[in-house]
Amino acid sequence: MRAYDIIAKKRNGDKLSKEEIYFFINGYTKGNIPDYQASALCMAIYFQGLDAEETAHLTMAMVESGDQIDLSAISGVKADKHSTGGVGDTTTIVLGPWAAAAGAPMAKMSGRGLGHTGGTLDKLEAIPGFEIEIGSDRFVQSVNDIGVAVVGQTGNLVPADKMLYALRDVTATVESMPLIASSIMSKKIASGADAIVLDVKAGDGAFMKTVDDAFALARSLVSIGEMVGRKTVAVITGMDQPLGYAIGNTLEVEEAIAALKGEGPEDLHQLCVVLGGHILHLSGITESAAAGEKRMLEVLESGQALEKLKQMINNQHGDSSIIEQPNKLPHAKHEKVVVAQTAGFVARIEAEKTGIAAMIMGAGRETKDDTIDYGAGIVLHKKAGDAVQIGDQLATLYSDREETMQQAEAMLLSAYHMSDQLVDVPPLIYGIVTAQEEKRF
Ligand code: URA
Ligand code: CA
Repeated sequence: MRAYDIIAKKRNGDKLSKEEIYFFINGYTKGNIPDYQASALCMAIYFQGLDAEETAHLTMAMVESGDQIDLSAISGVKADKHSTGGVGDTTTIVLGPWAAAAGAPMAKMSGRGLGHTGGTLDKLEAIPGFEIEIGSDRFVQSVNDIGVAVVGQTGNLVPADKMLYALRDVTATVESMPLIASSIMSKKIASGADAIVLDVKAGDGAFMKTVDDAFALARSLVSIGEMVGRKTVAVITGMDQPLGYAIGNTLEVEEAIAALKGEGPEDLHQLCVVLGGHILHLSGITESAAAGEKRMLEVLESGQALEKLKQMINNQHGDSSIIEQPNKLPHAKHEKVVVAQTAGFVARIEAEKTGIAAMIMGAGRETKDDTIDYGAGIVLHKKAGDAVQIGDQLATLYSDREETMQQAEAMLLSAYHMSDQLVDVPPLIYGIVTAQEEKRF
């Protein structure tokens, strides 16, 4: 077999065999196939696509390029939730303990933030003492003991994706549906989940700018999951504004605690109920997703979801007294209120610009080695659909780096899009794709 022939075959629009795909991915990962041939294949795939079977083979070839996490020592159906990337998205910290309190074992590997998107690990590390590197034995033990653990990635997962993603980034081949789908699913499959619930974001802050593209990606993700034996559901959600009100590490931990007390933002609450409903259904805990939603609400009402967060923080050596005394979390030295310069109704709030404004003030990293200030960030006071008068408070900025706040203010003001007419609140949930059906709301 030769890399040249595989590239030519895909260039001509023919279907690659499983053997050809494995040969290429193995060869590339081992360094036997050079970057220039892998670039050419990515470009051929960009133009000619891959069918469902080729995409599933590509995914598994990537999974098998590195370590795979073995969660078999955890009893029950292990569920995982993945979001294709949002701003102010505190879902994992809310949903992890909440779904665990409802009976679903939540063994969650999360990542750090880069650029305008935040990362769950950084948010958890805002909690004094919280450890995210606990080793795979304690990870498994924790999920068996209390039902939930959220940790950093252990092992060498999907090296093929790391190499291919870096290559796609500089060869204009990131925006290929089968390449995106196999990249996302390879990481979920290698982390060992039996059931995968995906939150596919649509909007200008997201990878998929249109709802139709987000549905297409969702179909591809679900089809890969089914073909390789993992139960998979995708929920298509809007990213026409940040989720909730808080953006920034401490601020989002506080928002997560409020959500688990039943006092959080409506959109964050709604999203967690819907995603949790699917997790409970796929885990076999309830008969349907609707029954799962009902169970999620009961568990919240009873206080068990908040109690589970406390157990999770204690178990990972964090200071759980922050739940009752949030002043123990790191807070920023400076505050600045941003006021509206025009009147009208908020039509949308560009999530990407909001994320960048928070990053500039220290909430995120511009490059991988930057340090972050946990207290930095933004609390929005007005969201899409709200009426605004000139001089009304739009948001409050928090930072230790006072010199950055003016630039952040200008960036945030440019993120707000106003309308002089009453606007409909952009939808939070556009639809759901499962192996059996596709629903659009
Ligand atoms: N996220 C991923 O993990 N991979 C992609 O290719 C795109 C988004
Ligand atoms: Ca938020």
